[in-house]
Amino acid sequence: MKFFADTAEVDAIRSLEEAGLIDGVTTNPSLIKKSGRAFRQVVEEICAVTKGPVSAEVTAVNAQAMIDEGQSLAAIANNITVKLPLTVEGLKACRALTRDGVMTNVTLCFSAPQALLAAKAGATFISPFVGRLDDIHTDGMALIQDIRTIYDNYDYKTEVLAASIRTPNHIKECAIAGADVATAPPDVLWRLAEHPLTHSGLDAFLKDWQATGQSVI
Ligand code: E4P
Repeated sequence: MKFFADTAEVDAIRSLEEAGLIDGVTTNPSLIKKSGRAFRQVVEEICAVTKGPVSAEVTAVNAQAMIDEGQSLAAIANNITVKLPLTVEGLKACRALTRDGVMTNVTLCFSAPQALLAAKAGATFISPFVGRLDDIHTDGMALIQDIRTIYDNYDYKTEVLAASIRTPNHIKECAIAGADVATAPPDVLWRLAEHPLTHSGLDAFLKDWQATGQSVI
């Protein structure tokens, strides 16, 4: 399973990359706004920090304009993945960009039929939003399971990129459901390594070791 950092904060991405915790990055217009920085500059810097796929989202709403934006974004670096909304126009753009050899991430997916359309359009990734479905009292994880089943039934190569991830437990559930990737905010990724019993256990081992007066080397 791959982990992507869902952020436009370059320093946070660098730290995760140095720790070997991530395989790529996803951004969206809201994350760019939060960073307070210029879109293309941020995306260029992220692509220099990680070799994995970096999702950069178009903001046009008709297919041809999305294709133009997508081609322009793809020229930034060869690990750019063009992020397109799950609309009919977005699917048209997905088909065209895929045909041109550009990686695509179809985003804002909230149903299995939508995911099926993205796979048929040749999307590299489909992004079902788990947390936002949970927010409206719908089982977000059930969507991941349904998409996994459907893609396996037809051997679609589109990767299931679980998005809108809020907790380490979400990531565990996505892994059980067979998601190919989970994209999560940096704090959620760091928390994957945390367990109170690990900390207390290590404290006890170190205290006992110190009491022996020995050294390992
Ligand atoms: C996915 O690519 C999106 O950027 C993201 O996961 C949305 O998450 P949110 O629902 O926490 O905004």
